Amino acid sequence: MPETVTLVDNTTGKSHDFPVSSGTLGPKVIDIRSLYAETGMFTYDPGFTSTASCDSSITYIDGDEGVLLHRGYAIEDLASNCSFLEVAYLLLEGELPDNAQMETFEKTITYHTMLHEQLMGFYRGFRRDAHPMAIMCGVVGALSAFYHDSTDITDQKQRLIASHRMIAKMPTLAAMAYKYSIGQPFMYPRNDLNYAENFLHMTFAVPAEDYKINPVLAKAMDRIFILHADHEQNASTSTVRLAGSSGANPFACIAAGIASLWGPAHGGANEAVLKMLAEIGHVDNVGEFINRAKDRDDPFRLMGFGHRVYKHYDPRATVMRESCHEVLGELGIENDPLLALAMELERIALEDEYFVEKKLYPNVDFYSGIILKAMGFPTSMFTVLFAVARTVGWVAQWNEMIEDPMQKIGRPRQLYSGAVQRDFTALKDRG
Ligand code: SDX
Repeated sequence: MPETVTLVDNTTGKSHDFPVSSGTLGPKVIDIRSLYAETGMFTYDPGFTSTASCDSSITYIDGDEGVLLHRGYAIEDLASNCSFLEVAYLLLEGELPDNAQMETFEKTITYHTMLHEQLMGFYRGFRRDAHPMAIMCGVVGALSAFYHDSTDITDQKQRLIASHRMIAKMPTLAAMAYKYSIGQPFMYPRNDLNYAENFLHMTFAVPAEDYKINPVLAKAMDRIFILHADHEQNASTSTVRLAGSSGANPFACIAAGIASLWGPAHGGANEAVLKMLAEIGHVDNVGEFINRAKDRDDPFRLMGFGHRVYKHYDPRATVMRESCHEVLGELGIENDPLLALAMELERIALEDEYFVEKKLYPNVDFYSGIILKAMGFPTSMFTVLFAVARTVGWVAQWNEMIEDPMQKIGRPRQLYSGAVQRDFTALKDRG
């Protein structure tokens, strides 16, 4: 007997049965695809807090237990034992690569890191003080103007090339956005460096001298990429899926994801955390800002705290916290005042009954900003780095959406609360 739930419409007395489906983990779903046809009603779920938009096998999150799995592997295991490209392969292909697969994948990505030379000119159209995320929205969308041979989404080979190009070129595009903002020359990628090393090289090296890669910083960079790689159906991933559902080319879809990630409630939070810490300024002011965060009439929120899904510690924040101490220790700035302020803010918030009652814990963005600042990135680049890492998740989710036989163009409906039909009055008669 298939499991169902029954909806009783009190106005008509009719009852409607809807099938219940179970995944391998997590909440069951009520399949309401026939709801409108059967009842003439829609569901209402702004923010999609109770809505599953798709059937996915890529990432699983248990917000109450603080669990994050990528294709069944715990984020803690992946962050401790894998490289970012190993995790990228896992997200894309569904299995961890063997040595031969890893070597091939790494070489494929490496040989796609260069950009069409004319894209350099695209950057020069921006003002030097343009926000790097604004540049990223523009240049990533422009990739579809350069790579026509990988925009046919019905061709699996083209989808794979576009996927590899996106993953490979994001660090190059991001580093160029930074170089352009500080008036330094672009640095070309180097094929003898791994993904994170290459990104640090393109970002911080200058033609005038050799750049020495700090292995501790390169490892931290790689781990930060892993921690930001994918996260189920978050706002930017849902944006990529919705854009892709219309058949838009992959570069345009990723550009849409970048735009969504930019928001301070989402990927822009890491930049907002640093701005918030600067505004708090000193440990003595923490109490005042905690009170402001609790005041419903005050729009101030504790950036880096809270999460739609995690109602317990964000497992990524735990790993990020460890990396933070490693990096600051390596750089000899363990007494960084910003970190001290962040630690005190975390301690007070975790003890405060408001935050405990509302289950507001530090999320992945709380510590990432402190590490990135210590590594030399300006705050305006923080969300760009998030976008570099999340491109792997966006691309994996986009491919899954395209290959899903159940997928159709995303087209939500609405609860209409506007004017009922009324007679038209011509302008000349409107006084
Ligand atoms: C990311 O979805 C993802 O997976 C995202 C992400 C990913 O990897 O893709 O994990 C990355 O975006 C992490 C989140 C980064 N954002 C921030 O740190 C910004 C600060 N956080 C908040 O804006 C908020 O917590 C959200 C947006 C993250 C989650 O908001 P929800 O789940 O919609 O919760 P809510 O806004 O309804 O808040 C519930 C209550 C509210 O109080 P009441 O109206 O019930 O009285 O908690 C309060 C909120 O006012 N609250 C906060 C708070 N976050 C929520 N109060 C103070 N400070 C906060 N940070």
